[in-house]
Amino acid sequence: MAGAEPARYAVVGNPVAHSLSPRIHAEFARQTGQALSYEAIELPLDGFEAGVRGLQRRGYAGLNVTVPFKQDAWRICDSLSERAERAAAVNTLVLADSGNIHGDNTDGIGLVRDLTINLGFELAERSILVLGAGGAVRGVLGPLLELKPARLVVANRTPEKARTLAADFAGIGDIEALPFDALAGQSFDLIVNGTAAGLGGELPAIPEDLVGAGTACYDMMYRLDAPTAFVAWSESLGAACACDGLGMLVEQAAAAFTLWRGVEADGASVIALLRAG
Ligand code: ATR
Repeated sequence: MAGAEPARYAVVGNPVAHSLSPRIHAEFARQTGQALSYEAIELPLDGFEAGVRGLQRRGYAGLNVTVPFKQDAWRICDSLSERAERAAAVNTLVLADSGNIHGDNTDGIGLVRDLTINLGFELAERSILVLGAGGAVRGVLGPLLELKPARLVVANRTPEKARTLAADFAGIGDIEALPFDALAGQSFDLIVNGTAAGLGGELPAIPEDLVGAGTACYDMMYRLDAPTAFVAWSESLGAACACDGLGMLVEQAAAAFTLWRGVEADGASVIALLRAG
C-alpha cells in the first residue's frame, strides 16, 4: 500500500542500549528488500508485560526478548512453539493485531545453525558437553538433542540444577548430568560454554585435560573487542577451534526474521560485517 508505515519490530531488554540486534535486523532488511524498522527498547524491570502490550497496541508486529525477560515472555504468551514450551523461555514474540501473542525460542536453532552451517561442524554421532544449567542452556538443549549426538552431557557448578535439566529433556534424547569434578579424564568432540562465568571474566572450574587437539570449543557469549575468557582458555590449550557466540546471536536473529517476514536472511555475511567493526 502506498504510504503505508513499514512494519515495526524491536528488541526489549534491560539493559538493551548496547544490543547488536538493531544493526543485525537492519542488515537483514537491506539484504532481503524488506521495509521494516527495528529499535532497541528498554522496559522497566517490573513492567515487562505492560510494556509489551503497550507496544502491541502501538502496532509493533514482533519483538525479540533479551535478558532478563525471556521467562516473563514465556509466561505471557497465548501460544508457544514446541521448542519455546520446552525451553520455558521465549526470545521471539509475534504480535497479532487481535491482541494474540505467540512465542518462539530461536536461540537453540541459532547455535545449531552457527555450528553446522557457518563453522561446518557435524553434530550427529558426536559427543557434546554443555556447561551451565541456567536459562541460556535450557534454550539450546532441545535443538542439540534433535541432532542425535552420540552423547550429550550437561555439567554445572551446582549439580542439582544439571540433574533437573537433564530430567526435563530426557524425553527428547539421551542426556546425562555430571558435576564439574566428574569430568576429569573424559573427552568430548565439542564443549559448549553456556555458563554466565564469562560475565565476570571468569572460567567455569572444569579440568584442563578436557580440551585437546580434537576438541572444538564454543562460548555462547561473545565479545567484539577481544576473545572471551573461555575462548582464550580453549585456544591456550590447543583446541581444534575456539569460537564465541557472535554467530549464534546473528543466527537466532535470522530465524526470528524468517518467522516474522517469511524470507531467509544470510547470517554469514552479517557475522563478517560485525567482526569487521
Ligand atoms: P543465564 O540465563 O545466562 O543462563 P542463569 O539462569 O542465572 O543465567 O544461569 C547462570 C549459569 O551460569 C548457571 O549454570 C550458573 O551456575 P550455578 O547454577 O552453579 O549458579 C553458571 N555460572 C555463573 N557463574 C559461574 C562461574 N563463575 N563458574 C561456573 N558457572 C557459573
